[in-house]
Amino acid sequence: MISMNDFKAEPETLRLAELAAMERVLRSGWYVLGKELQAFELAWARTCGAGHAVGVGNGMDAIEIGLRALDIGPGDEVITTPMTAFATVLAIIRAGATPVLADIDPRTALLDPVSVERCVGSKTRAVLLVHLYGQLQQMEKWTALCERHGIALLEDCAQAHLAQWNGVTAGCFGSFGAYSFYPTKNLGALGDGGALISNDEVLAQRTAVLRNYGQSVRYHHPVPGLNSRLDELQAALLMTRLEWLEEFTERRRQIARVYHLNIVNPAVQLLSVPDQARSHVYHLFVILSKERDRLGQYLDKNGVQTFVHYPVPVHRQLPSKDISRDPAGLAYAERHATQCISIPCHPQMNDADVAKIIDLINAFK
Ligand SMILES: Cc1ncc(COP(=O)(O)O)c(C=O)c1O
Repeated sequence: MISMNDFKAEPETLRLAELAAMERVLRSGWYVLGKELQAFELAWARTCGAGHAVGVGNGMDAIEIGLRALDIGPGDEVITTPMTAFATVLAIIRAGATPVLADIDPRTALLDPVSVERCVGSKTRAVLLVHLYGQLQQMEKWTALCERHGIALLEDCAQAHLAQWNGVTAGCFGSFGAYSFYPTKNLGALGDGGALISNDEVLAQRTAVLRNYGQSVRYHHPVPGLNSRLDELQAALLMTRLEWLEEFTERRRQIARVYHLNIVNPAVQLLSVPDQARSHVYHLFVILSKERDRLGQYLDKNGVQTFVHYPVPVHRQLPSKDISRDPAGLAYAERHATQCISIPCHPQMNDADVAKIIDLINAFK
């Protein structure tokens, strides 16, 4: 089976380095909020070109804590996309704010600025972009839109490690970028993990307080925070895995290029080719088909695993069925949810795997 991820096939040198990192933490006798986290936060901030990185428990908490650090909560609206992991919207709800859903651009499945404009109102405090599947697009449009309305630009970068637009890395365009290091992400831990990056020192300090019970100095809690810390073991493992991120990302891009050039079945559509070489990091390679379910079954029968990101848009989930949305509707998100299917695109695949998937898709009737 060619699977969507294959951690067991990762290079032995990486495996040995991870074992050494784990042993270092174990022997240090210090497991939470220590040197490993500090070192990783510095390294991740530097990698992203951000002033600050603050490690937290997971990607969803990074968004919630970022919103709370900006004092975005009850009575405030945050516009985002219905085509995302439910965690994006759940984080807004948990921060006490009101999510408002705008429709997507069908060519990329990213938020559509025209639909977002229709959703902006007097209560809007922010637009939360999701760099879905690993893509950044037209960031100057988003910064201009948010500036024009005097609202914050926030980025959910859970799928977009190292993605750049005009040389600026995901998470550095607005008030904060929220990263997930869930194992399957392009930079993944061996468990849950996340980080918030920002160029705003005050915001980063507030985030560091909020992640640790709202504690300013030991046993003083001026704000009701969370317990959401990136532990030493995960920080040490992430530091080790970070050394491979550039190479792994380049392999994802290579595979994606081959897919773009060679998948030619008229029963299958590809999303648009990225406008800039480094703007897409292919966390997922997603294709569209009116026969999505049949295509998935056919690939599965022929030894290729697929997933669907996402079959149920956010406004169809029970907790958000009455959620506010673009008055013109969310038709493109609805359609995308019925047609999208993710095919394997990960650094451990070999050329024969890629060729087999292309041949199978092209032979699909
Ligand atoms: C776009 C997006 N946002 C947020 C999250 C939440 O990240 P985590 O699972 O680390 O909480 C994910 C992960 O599934 C995601 O893909």
